[in-house]
Amino acid sequence: MVRTLRFSALALLLAAAPFATGYAADKGPSPEVGTAGVAPGAAPNASVKGSRADDANQVERVNGNEPEIPPPVSWSFAGLFGHYDKAQLQRGYQVYREVCSNCHSMKLVAFRNLAGPGGLGYGEGQVAALAATFQIEDGPNDKGEMYKRPGRPADIFPSPFPNPEAAAAAYGKAPPDMSVLAKARYTERGLPWFIFDFFTQAEEVSGPTYIHAVLNGYTKPDDPKYNIYMPNHAIAMPKPLNDGQVEYKDDSPQTLEQYSKDVSAFLMWAAEPKLQQRKAMGLMVLSFLTLFTGLLYFVKKRIWARVGGDVLVGDHGPRPAGSAGGAPRPRRPIAHPAE
Ligand code: HEC
Repeated sequence: MVRTLRFSALALLLAAAPFATGYAADKGPSPEVGTAGVAPGAAPNASVKGSRADDANQVERVNGNEPEIPPPVSWSFAGLFGHYDKAQLQRGYQVYREVCSNCHSMKLVAFRNLAGPGGLGYGEGQVAALAATFQIEDGPNDKGEMYKRPGRPADIFPSPFPNPEAAAAAYGKAPPDMSVLAKARYTERGLPWFIFDFFTQAEEVSGPTYIHAVLNGYTKPDDPKYNIYMPNHAIAMPKPLNDGQVEYKDDSPQTLEQYSKDVSAFLMWAAEPKLQQRKAMGLMVLSFLTLFTGLLYFVKKRIWARVGGDVLVGDHGPRPAGSAGGAPRPRRPIAHPAE
């Protein structure tokens, strides 16, 4: 019996795991962020997957310059009951708008996604106003020319560069699109930690943890392209954030630490706006399967009681009139049709 239960529990976990963990959907770098230059088939043995750390397998490593493992961060959206903190997402959006959007696009996210129940808590009017602060290329007009116009809610977050080559010419490397950056990067801490991380689901949030780390990884004040979380400690992105750079409307601390947490949370939302619904669905499936397993167990016990162990065989005749239970039923001979 114990074994049956153990098997059911295992089957239940396996069945519900994709809902609860997002494992099925989230693996691997997305082609959308291909600008980071992951060589196909590169052996993924560095700590950061789907990122420039993979390049490092092709490039000779400078000894002692391996990327550091990002320190863990506690996220509101981690774990079984994870959910987004809308105030944090709005602050993160502000950091993205004022700083990151000067170089990074988000081509899979439209302004209208910021409104509505799965959004950041903005109303439609607010989103229209936010969209209008961007200049979007449109056209051609009747003279055959492209032109710029203010953004509309249906537009996507544009790239400030006309093409990736122009971006690469400016910075040495094109800034990757940020739509799914938080899901396209993940880090592993290696044995034995990855076993714990599997159960605590730490890997699911390792993308934002990595982005947070990169923003905090500029440890040489005189070298704006030195970053301890990058292979060979070199990054093409000059340090983008500093204390006091963005003016928050609420009373959250205006520090690099807070900015980088908020913008990483926002990028996680951008990459997976339906995370909350997925987790709620996973919980529902798990509780249903738990109830169902219990039900199946008792039904099985009941049905198989007739042909069960020695004690019960032949013990199922009608009870003697007037006996409430307790009293043994009269034994019935087992019928053998062959005889
Ligand atoms: C001045 C332009 C610029 C700004 C502003 C900027 N970035 Fe970048 N970013 C880049 C470039 C260029 C790269 C490519 C770096 C590389 O591959 O070495 C990059 C890469 C990154 C990476 C990727 C590292 C990887 O694994 O490939 C992250 C994460 C990132 N930026 C986050 C941010 C965030 C968050 C902000 C806003 C706070 C921001 N960036 C603002 C230019 C910029």
